[in-house]
Amino acid sequence: MCGIVGAVAERQVTPILIEGLKRLEYRGYDSSGIAVIDPETGSLKRLRRLGKVNELVKANQEQGTEGTVGIAHTRWATHGRPSEANAHPHLSGHKLAIVHNGIIENYEVLREQLKANGYEFSSETDTEIIAHTIHQALKTSESLLDAVQRSVTQFEGAYGLAVVSLDYPDQIVIARKGSPLVLGLGIGENFIASDQLALLPVTNRFIFIEEGDTGIVERDKISLFDKDGNVVEREVHEFDAEHDSGDKGEFRHYMLKEIYEQPRSIQATLDGRITDTKLSDTIFTEAELDILKEVDRVQIVACGTSYHAGSVARYWLEDIVGLPCQIEVASEFRYRKKVVLGKTLFVTVSQSGETADTLAALRTSKELGFYATLVICNVPGSSLVRESDMCLMTNAGAEIGVASTKAFTTQLVALLLLTLQLGKSNGLSEEKEKEVVRELRMLPSYIEATLLIDKQIQLLAHRFADKHNTLFLGRGVQYPIAMEGALKLKEISYIHAEAYPAGELKHGPLALVDENMPIVAVAPNNELHEKLKSNLEEVRARGGELYVFADKSAGLNPDNDFHVVELPSVGDVVAPIVYTVPLQLLSYYVAEQKGTDIDQPRNLAKSVTVE
Ligand code: M6R
Repeated sequence: MCGIVGAVAERQVTPILIEGLKRLEYRGYDSSGIAVIDPETGSLKRLRRLGKVNELVKANQEQGTEGTVGIAHTRWATHGRPSEANAHPHLSGHKLAIVHNGIIENYEVLREQLKANGYEFSSETDTEIIAHTIHQALKTSESLLDAVQRSVTQFEGAYGLAVVSLDYPDQIVIARKGSPLVLGLGIGENFIASDQLALLPVTNRFIFIEEGDTGIVERDKISLFDKDGNVVEREVHEFDAEHDSGDKGEFRHYMLKEIYEQPRSIQATLDGRITDTKLSDTIFTEAELDILKEVDRVQIVACGTSYHAGSVARYWLEDIVGLPCQIEVASEFRYRKKVVLGKTLFVTVSQSGETADTLAALRTSKELGFYATLVICNVPGSSLVRESDMCLMTNAGAEIGVASTKAFTTQLVALLLLTLQLGKSNGLSEEKEKEVVRELRMLPSYIEATLLIDKQIQLLAHRFADKHNTLFLGRGVQYPIAMEGALKLKEISYIHAEAYPAGELKHGPLALVDENMPIVAVAPNNELHEKLKSNLEEVRARGGELYVFADKSAGLNPDNDFHVVELPSVGDVVAPIVYTVPLQLLSYYVAEQKGTDIDQPRNLAKSVTVE
């Protein structure tokens, strides 16, 4: 989704802005642009290009942008097709430039008013009205900040905004509502971005801008104001540089690198949170533990891959702890009438912590009076973390590939830790706790062992590359894993994939089965294994070609149309986490065969900050 970078420095800022944009490429975008002010010569120069940031780099090499104050943007089209004219920054007159993330919902009304006042529009975007509104307000304002503060009161919708003006050549003015913004603190220079990753080459000190804040960013000074215009101080956070996964290392794609990072990221999620035999008692504060002890139900809400993680947790919470648990996708939850029962813990799951639907669902949950809110999240300081009562961080490190991999498996680990924590006040036996903890301790090595089947999966991938449809089957807690496998395949290889609980096949989807429909099944050796085997026979009998990921002790016999990939024997509880890995590898290698843009699949964004 759109990305913002800005810098006010003594040095030339274009290289900082371009590097920042490159670091935001993973979020998905279709065009990019930059506007730079040179206070010495009093010039404002803008460059925009359709396509990758490299196009902007080439344009900059030809035309050059000199300056020490600048803003830059990667655009993911919402209003108006991808084009140079629609790319940001947008100008009003020759002195004012803005970049914007989010959507201004009342832009049509504002556009008509501005046209009536003589403003001409050169793009189809909602963003251009912001530029003209601020330009208009500047005529009667005492400062750029004043103009921005007065303008934003007219906007309905979401914005993360950065504004520069030749009349205020040493400032970037910012505003936030609904779309994240972070300030990076330097010495004699300061920065802004929509995502702190963009700024890691220049600083590790950040301030997360709060909802409704506005501010002025200058070289030696940052002034922030809350939604009522009062001066505010916001906490400075130091970012652990170890979490910067800025390059792909020996891997061809971030996705593969992140698949291989999973033993390490899972270990980081576990560190300090389990002892040899039990859950550590320091995961939550005393006050949080008091709240968790009272919980009698759980409602999980999330989107996409994070929703699949929550779906696995529903099985765990009900099977292991006996706590009633519901799960729903955030985009539906937020618009549905709900009945809140008892002391329901409202749990959101999100890699980015900025997903608009999940954030809206969290806010709705507060209005509805849920007992308490908790987020499982990977990004410290993100909106979900700041707005939830409690958080359990996944510590996976930055995930750059749009397709979520290590974020998913670490979400599962965090959800299993939460399950154990809730189990403590719901009669979970010490023996069961010990068994789950033992499996969790083994998990990084199970994943290492599973990664060894990489070559085997690579060899199978070509059998999928010319197919148009695939079915993924699982039963019980493995059904959400089949769903996650199907999502991975469709998002990066563009092959249509659907997941079914294997017992549902005979109620319809079996009609689809023929030799052109590969069927992937996740088949650990659990209590549903025999049932699943019967379902697989139903498929075989109809000419379907099966690819089964199975426990090596399951005794499945491969055949021409029955491919078996054996996985290490693991405990039932952690099996969903382990069986995710081969499905990630399968989708990766199929996409590689097809030559798709694996890290930035078409039409998708890493962090979906608009509805
Ligand atoms: O950042 P979040 O986990 O809230 O994102 C939710 C989904 O957009 C995300 O999980 C998406 O489905 C994955 N990138 C797909 O791999």
